[in-house]
Amino acid sequence: MHRARRRAGARLAPLVALTHLAALATVAFAASPAAALSPQALEGRAVMEKAQCTRCHAVTDASAPKDALGHGIAPIERAMNCVTCHQWILNTKGDAEAIARQRQTFPDWDRYLETIVHFRLLPDLGTLTRRVDPAFVRRFLDAPFDLRPHLDESMIPLRLSAAEKDAVVAYLTALNGAAAVKPAAPAATPPAKAPDAQAIATGRQAFLTSGCPTCHVMGPEPLVPGYGAAFFAAMGDQALLAPDLRFVRQRIPRATLVAFIQNPTAIDPTSRMPALGVTAERAGQIADFLLHAPLPDGAAPEPAMSAAKPLAREVGWDEVYEEVLGLICVHCHMHPESNNGDGGAGNTGGLGFAGLQLDLETYAGVKRGLVRDGKRVSIVDPPAPGQPPLLLAALLRRHAEAGRDVRPPYSGHRADARGADPQRPGMPLGLPPLPPEKVRMIATWLAQGAPGPGG
Ligand code: HEC
Ligand code: HEC
Ligand code: HEC
Ligand code: HEC
Repeated sequence: MHRARRRAGARLAPLVALTHLAALATVAFAASPAAALSPQALEGRAVMEKAQCTRCHAVTDASAPKDALGHGIAPIERAMNCVTCHQWILNTKGDAEAIARQRQTFPDWDRYLETIVHFRLLPDLGTLTRRVDPAFVRRFLDAPFDLRPHLDESMIPLRLSAAEKDAVVAYLTALNGAAAVKPAAPAATPPAKAPDAQAIATGRQAFLTSGCPTCHVMGPEPLVPGYGAAFFAAMGDQALLAPDLRFVRQRIPRATLVAFIQNPTAIDPTSRMPALGVTAERAGQIADFLLHAPLPDGAAPEPAMSAAKPLAREVGWDEVYEEVLGLICVHCHMHPESNNGDGGAGNTGGLGFAGLQLDLETYAGVKRGLVRDGKRVSIVDPPAPGQPPLLLAALLRRHAEAGRDVRPPYSGHRADARGADPQRPGMPLGLPPLPPEKVRMIATWLAQGAPGPGG
């Protein structure tokens, strides 16, 4: 048991100065960009900076000289960056000397290596429109959903206006200039003649024998026996970002698709997919399969729970803190005083959210609740008789979102599922819902009057 689980941010604060210098250096070397961005694209970049997209995503300008920023966005300093900080820690795995050095400043370093699993590898947005239709990206910003079944994390709902999202897509498209995919033709254009069943079967065979199913799934039906969740987990980082290819037909025009399959980095220089030596002919066959194979929607995963029955035992603060709040929630609901004033996205704000002054790191903070419309509101007392306290309601909302957001390999997809409500997102934001036992544990603690440390 980790009695006093420490907030990483506070413990790692001395690093701010160092990471800051590194960021400045990147800016100083930035080459002069090839072509000026339009006012709308510049606005899009500003929107992304304000919403802190680069706490999670790289935004690389692939047309800039190597190691230069160009029109891209510099990663947010490591002391605040969900991905580069986690990577920095995990990169010491197996390096006894580095671990010993870090232990001197961070006594809990060994535990960090055990606990951190999320936010260590996410897609680069800079080169996305070299492969993906900007019209898809625009729809995705309205209602993000899980594209990558091996990646636990989900894209967060965005509190942006339609004009701001238009600007973001204009920027992500301009970043790639002429290399960007042309937006899809209007729906009025008659569809190209679909390949016949024989051609699709040939494409399927080419897909299976080219090694593609070792990283990708395509829709709800397993194509290769034995390639289940455990198999993909064993593939590690190589497969982590591989999308479910069922979405290709909404995302990638045929010509781009055929070229990408043959040589991924020729289309998208940041791609992590290996070139597998697929000939042009085979790539064309595979494209027939990906774009035209019949694709059932399948049953979307059902929410595991919509209400939480309390357990028949006592639950104390220590358990609630160690198992849930201190483990997962503090990373966005910190106690600001112990973290240079930054309380995280759900407290003092960030990731495009204003924050609700909700501190989940201390018992006093939990009891104080959140601030809405200038008033303190309890998260542990029912807002009205018979209604769940806001803390429990937020956990249940994440379960309700899960049919859209949490897609194990071969799960179905509900094409009509809307994204989470950006005004009331489920918790934990961007992470899988808590397992039902943990939600019940919290429900029990709440039903018992939310006792504090020492009972
Ligand atoms: C807390 C981390 C986080 C933040 C902040 C974040 N994202 Fe994401 N985003 C994700 C994750 C995780 C995914 C991958 C989801 C998947 O593919 O299953 C993703 C995916 C995406 C995708 C889809 C990529 C693709 O392959 O099509 C787009 C577009 C995107 N994000 C845009 C943005 C923008 C714009 C912002 C800022 C306004 C932003 N994201 C901020 C976590 C984040
Ligand atoms: C300064 C470094 C640093 C930054 C920045 C950082 N983390 Fe972490 N994170 C850690 C450490 C260290 C742990 C392990 C904490 C422990 O074991 O007590 C951790 C653990 C976590 C965990 C629990 C383990 C897991 O993988 O699920 C989550 C969730 C998490 N961080 C989310 C975030 C999010 C979201 C952000 C960005 C808003 C972020 N972190 C930014 C260092 C950091
Ligand atoms: C070693 C793992 C791996 C293998 C094997 C692999 N891919 Fe990929 N693929 C990826 C990753 C990771 C991505 C995510 C995008 C990126 O990083 O370029 C990707 C992206 C794609 C995309 C873009 C999907 C989208 O929605 O954006 C297509 C299409 C694709 N792969 C097809 C194939 C085909 C066809 C094969 C077999 C010839 C194959 N892949 C083999 C890892 C792999
Ligand atoms: C990745 C960041 C992140 C993580 C992790 C996270 N939260 Fe939040 N939380 C937020 C943001 C952002 C908001 C909304 C802030 C706003 O409206 O400005 C929020 C809001 C809330 C609210 C208010 C909901 C309402 O009624 O509107 C509760 C309760 C909450 N979080 C609980 C939790 C719990 C419990 C956990 C852990 C299981 C958790 N959060 C993990 C970012 C996060």
